[in-house]
Amino acid sequence: MGVQETNSGVKRLKRQLIAASCRRKKPLFHLLFKVLLLLCVVVFILCYTLSSSSLRWWESFPLEEQYQRFFNQPNHDNLTPLYWVYPAHRDKTNEILQTTESPTVPPTVPPTVRPTVPATVPPTVPPAGIQYHQAYARNYHFIMDNAEVCKTKKPFLVLMVPVAPHDVTARDAIRQTWGKDSQIQGEVVLTLFMLGYSGGADAGQVQEKLKQENLQHHDLIQSDFMDTYLNLTIKTMVIMDWLATRCPTAAYGMKIDSDMFLNIDNLVIMLQMPGIPKQKYLTGMLMWNRPVVRSKDSKWYVPVEMYPKNTYPTYTLGMGYIFSSDLPGKFVEVSKSIKPFNIEDAYIGTCMEKLGLAPTSPPSPSQFKAYNTKYNRCEFSKVITYILGSSEELVKYWTDLKKPGRPC
Ligand SMILES: *[C@@H]1O[C@H](CO)[C@@H](O)[C@H](O)[C@H]1NC(C)=O
Repeated sequence: MGVQETNSGVKRLKRQLIAASCRRKKPLFHLLFKVLLLLCVVVFILCYTLSSSSLRWWESFPLEEQYQRFFNQPNHDNLTPLYWVYPAHRDKTNEILQTTESPTVPPTVPPTVRPTVPATVPPTVPPAGIQYHQAYARNYHFIMDNAEVCKTKKPFLVLMVPVAPHDVTARDAIRQTWGKDSQIQGEVVLTLFMLGYSGGADAGQVQEKLKQENLQHHDLIQSDFMDTYLNLTIKTMVIMDWLATRCPTAAYGMKIDSDMFLNIDNLVIMLQMPGIPKQKYLTGMLMWNRPVVRSKDSKWYVPVEMYPKNTYPTYTLGMGYIFSSDLPGKFVEVSKSIKPFNIEDAYIGTCMEKLGLAPTSPPSPSQFKAYNTKYNRCEFSKVITYILGSSEELVKYWTDLKKPGRPC
């Protein structure tokens, strides 16, 4: 009994001790648990907010700005050439770039550019199917330049028509229509065709035919770049170079596509109007706030690496735009510091912006038409430009327009 008593006494004591310790441990344990839970919640919230905001922060903050700073140097006085290749890629390891790089491109990027490139810019390889090109005109050389045409006469207006080397049909149609007369409304007007090298298997033959064609008409300007769709910006810049170096005495120049109807009389009449500026003047069909096409299937697709902004500066539609003769030389100069992209008209708009200039609306904007509907003699007698479907259409409509009798 005594043992039992002591036993039960010990048990009781143990129980009491355990209960007491439990009572003592319980709040401590609770507190610890609560603190841990709170910590977990805090960490979770912190992680969540950081991850979502840092994503946006990554996307918005530095890259676009840095790209822009890299490709469009703000320094106007110090126009150092910039190229479409990141410095990191200017080595022999990149096959794509090696094959597309023109041999005349200097081997190094000027050191002034490097500090603005953040170390975190990911290496970017041009997407497959698109080749970057270099639009600085002095990288190319004239094969045919008809340099004497502007020496023998001082033109009021020079029409420069980019055309594919093999497209004799388009050239002949223009020679019979708006490019036919060299005297328009009492002014000297010249029409010249701009071509690059034909890349096909019959390139040699094409070249021989071109020589003959030029002997007959003296109106072909050819340069040594590959004549392809993606090289249209080079073509335009070579046109600018030719005007600046071979024809500085002309008052105005026009870049006009070969599939256009041009009412040349109306154009000269417009340029003779008293209010038309003789300098820093670019006009045509104005395009405002045009978004850059990012759909890869589009003919006008431009990758972000080529042109980082989402909209183009104001530009004149490439079908036909007119400029005073001081501009071509300025475009060539400023193009050294503007990364090329394959949309030639928007590229000229970018050159204008960089020069601190902007295109001007023509006296009657409705004279620049960019659609192709049914021929209407009265309408064609009033417009300046109109898009056509074929060279046959041009000859047909022109003949009809010029027939005797009032058009309206
Ligand atoms: C553009 O022309 C250059 C110079 O001739 C040439 O190397 C390049 O392959 C051409 N690019 C395209 C896309 O045709």
